[in-house]
Amino acid sequence: MSPLRQAMRSTVGKKVLMAITGLALTLFVIVHLAGNLQLFLKDGSKFNAYAHSLESLGGLLYVAEAGLLFFILAHAVNGILIKGSHWAARGDVRYSRYQTKGAPSRQNLSTQSMIVSGLTILGFLVVHISHFKFGPGVAEGYVTQIQGAEVRDLHRLVVETFRQPGWALGYMGVMVLLGLHLRHGFWSAFQSLGAMSPRLSPVISVIGVVLAVLLALGFLGIPAWILVDPMGVYR
Ligand code: HEM
Repeated sequence: MSPLRQAMRSTVGKKVLMAITGLALTLFVIVHLAGNLQLFLKDGSKFNAYAHSLESLGGLLYVAEAGLLFFILAHAVNGILIKGSHWAARGDVRYSRYQTKGAPSRQNLSTQSMIVSGLTILGFLVVHISHFKFGPGVAEGYVTQIQGAEVRDLHRLVVETFRQPGWALGYMGVMVLLGLHLRHGFWSAFQSLGAMSPRLSPVISVIGVVLAVLLALGFLGIPAWILVDPMGVYR
């Protein structure tokens, strides 16, 4: 077996892979939110121009998307394997699961819901990508003009989706889980990479909480804003 395969089979190797893919996905989520914040603007052409500019990256976009898919799958499969080996090692002694050997417990809602929040986000991504990325486009009438060219009216699709309470509330619920997942995941990644000292740990923990709250609120705010439409611009 090659040294790389051997490393990937070890617990430490799995944790390092989890940390690297998790941090890379966090970076994607930050960039994705930054682009999506344009949905708060009254003028939908800004968001459509932004989405169109990504498409015009051509081959580069396909490479980035393939990389993103690899990171999502590696993170999810590895997470399920780690959780599976924890369950197997624990056997029937479920009652002892939160013993901390005398140290203060780090267990909280975020740490205990990692597998549930992770699997929900994975399910969300399947629905999300098939609806927005591969959903109705120019052929189905979702078309607009950007500098004289006919492009997909993605802004209209997002607005029509979040004007429906079921979609908007469903998204908002998943974004709360995303926040919980990031809150522990961010701290845990630094721990797994061995980049943590007793002094650094609380700092990383606070950064993780702030990042998780900002990202969850930012994403959650989009469907909420469109659904409530306080300025009356999406009707
Ligand atoms: C209110 C929240 C969100 C909105 C409005 C939104 C919007 C969109 C839209 C419009 C697209 C299609 C882009 C295109 O076809 O050019 C997209 C793609 C995507 N979104 Fe989201 N998104 C949201 C939350 C999220 C979250 C929380 C994640 C990750 C956890 C995520 C991951 C993705 C991924 C992986 C793609 C495919 C990117 C690609 O292949 O180019 N999105 N999103």
